[in-house]
Amino acid sequence: WLGMAGKRGALIVLEGVDRAGKTTQCSKLVQALQQSGRPAEMMRFPDRTTTIGQLIGAYLENKSDLEDHTVHLLFSANRWEMVPLMKKKLEQGITLVVDRYAFSGVAFTSAKPGFRLDWCMQPDVGLPKPDLVMFLQLNPAEAALRGQFGQERYETSVFQRTVQQRFEQLMKDQTVNWQVHSTLTGVGESSIKLDLHCSEMRLE
Ligand code: TMP
Ligand code: MG
Repeated sequence: WLGMAGKRGALIVLEGVDRAGKTTQCSKLVQALQQSGRPAEMMRFPDRTTTIGQLIGAYLENKSDLEDHTVHLLFSANRWEMVPLMKKKLEQGITLVVDRYAFSGVAFTSAKPGFRLDWCMQPDVGLPKPDLVMFLQLNPAEAALRGQFGQERYETSVFQRTVQQRFEQLMKDQTVNWQVHSTLTGVGESSIKLDLHCSEMRLE
């Protein structure tokens, strides 16, 4: 755990297309951190338990329809409502391992027609900036093995291919500490380098 100076917790985000195995890797990472004596907790976005999260959940399950800009802003609001809790935990020295964050927000909405990357990024400007973003790369062979998508909105191969392209655009941002991992090998803890100096998401 190079560079983890001081006692504030690290903000570690896992990103990727649907079915990449982020949730599994998040749990493994939390376990590994805890076993190495570092307090760690998992979070996920969207957090479907809040009032805003329930609106998002109904939308994803196709139980309601929401206008595209509206749901984008709800996803962002669902992150903002957790910021006080996130900051408290990080200050207490707890490392947060987060299943999706603002990058999913931008990648998914900008995969819809008529959405520009910079418009999509704006609502998340000012969120706590991750110390590390691990992108879980699902290779095509593995994707085929994982079978069909479920019933949720966005779970189609055509849409996910566009989402993957948007993620690739976002990974060009050198101010974000991106690390690409294959779903086959998963997230190892050995290669994690953290920079705890930046504190807020910016618009580049
Ligand atoms: P989940 O499967 O990880 O619960 O995510 C639900 C879906 O929501 C998934 O298809 C990705 C999408 N999503 C957005 O469109 N915008 C966001 O800001 C986030 C966090 C997820
Ligand atoms: Mg899902």
